[in-house]
Amino acid sequence: MPQKILVVGAGFLGSKIANEFSYLKNSVIKTNLTSVQDGSHLLDITNKKMVEDCFEKIKPDIVVNCAGSTDIDFLEKNSQLAYAVNGQSVKNLAVTSQKFNSRFIQISTDGVFDGIYGNYSETDIPNPVNVYAKSKLIGEEETGKNCQNYTIIRTNFYGHHKSGRFLFNNILNKLKAGVKIIGFDDIFFTPLEISNLSQLVVDVALSEYIGILNLSSDYPISKYQFCLNIAEILGFDTKLIRRGSIDEMNFAAKRPKNTSLVNKRSKQIIRHEIVSLTDWLERYKKQLNDSFSHQP
Ligand SMILES: NC(=O)c1ccc[n+]([C@@H]2O[C@H](COP(=O)([O-])OP(=O)(O)OC[C@H]3O[C@@H](n4cnc5c(N)ncnc54)[C@H](OP(=O)(O)O)[C@@H]3O)[C@@H](O)[C@H]2O)c1
Repeated sequence: MPQKILVVGAGFLGSKIANEFSYLKNSVIKTNLTSVQDGSHLLDITNKKMVEDCFEKIKPDIVVNCAGSTDIDFLEKNSQLAYAVNGQSVKNLAVTSQKFNSRFIQISTDGVFDGIYGNYSETDIPNPVNVYAKSKLIGEEETGKNCQNYTIIRTNFYGHHKSGRFLFNNILNKLKAGVKIIGFDDIFFTPLEISNLSQLVVDVALSEYIGILNLSSDYPISKYQFCLNIAEILGFDTKLIRRGSIDEMNFAAKRPKNTSLVNKRSKQIIRHEIVSLTDWLERYKKQLNDSFSHQP
């Protein structure tokens, strides 16, 4: 039966998740903080009254919270913003979900771990190493404390975005421009392609699973190999990618080195296949070639 879905924070991930719910003929309401074009509504999750009014109006069956402040280095110096948006505000959504009997899905991050060992399961203890990750962990805690029908999804993702703000297009833009890239061979993760992740988030939202759940690819990959795969499959000069270490960098926020997740538990719940990076790149290349061949 079609359900009423509220996607809070319809940015890069939220807008894809909203699309995925729409394909299944659900009634989907999206919110943003500032960018309210494309049928999205205005909602500031730091404002408890606004959150309550929104739920009162929509009475959602399922709420997916993708709202977040995600500029890791900026947040390291602006911790109040991080804790307000990624931490305490999640309480507003969790409390209100409980009040309205809505299922609550909180999008969290693989970054809650210190990255010393990698291959983290749902039962491993987080130990965040920067302000962003600490604030996301508070968001997880507020979720578990304040509502009963919830899932916290720990994940990481990449995908096509028209701006160069996100990982994949940032690398692609540099390759296209012939700019050298340092590929960190000591940073490992298990990211999913964003449309594939959105399918899996919908699977989880429509399930009855309660608790923390990892959504990730099957095998860890280093950032160096990630860059190399993009260059190799999309036909760019692989010499543009220099193997390097995160320790060479001087970022404001410390980065955990191995945040790879184990996805065994999620395999019992998800209905869609997990798409590997190489398969997705092959499809992406085909789409690019098709769109070129259709140009007049
Ligand atoms: N990007 C990654 O690689 C990554 C990895 C792991 C986990 N995550 C998590 O995934 C989620 C989505 O990330 P994303 O990359 O899609 O982020 P994004 O594109 O920056 O989108 C963030 C969304 O949050 C909204 N927002 C910001 N502050 C808000 C507030 N006070 N009240 C209500 N809405 C607010 C933004 O609205 P406006 O657009 O109007 O500003 C936007 O819709 C986040 O929770 C993030 O922590 C991201």
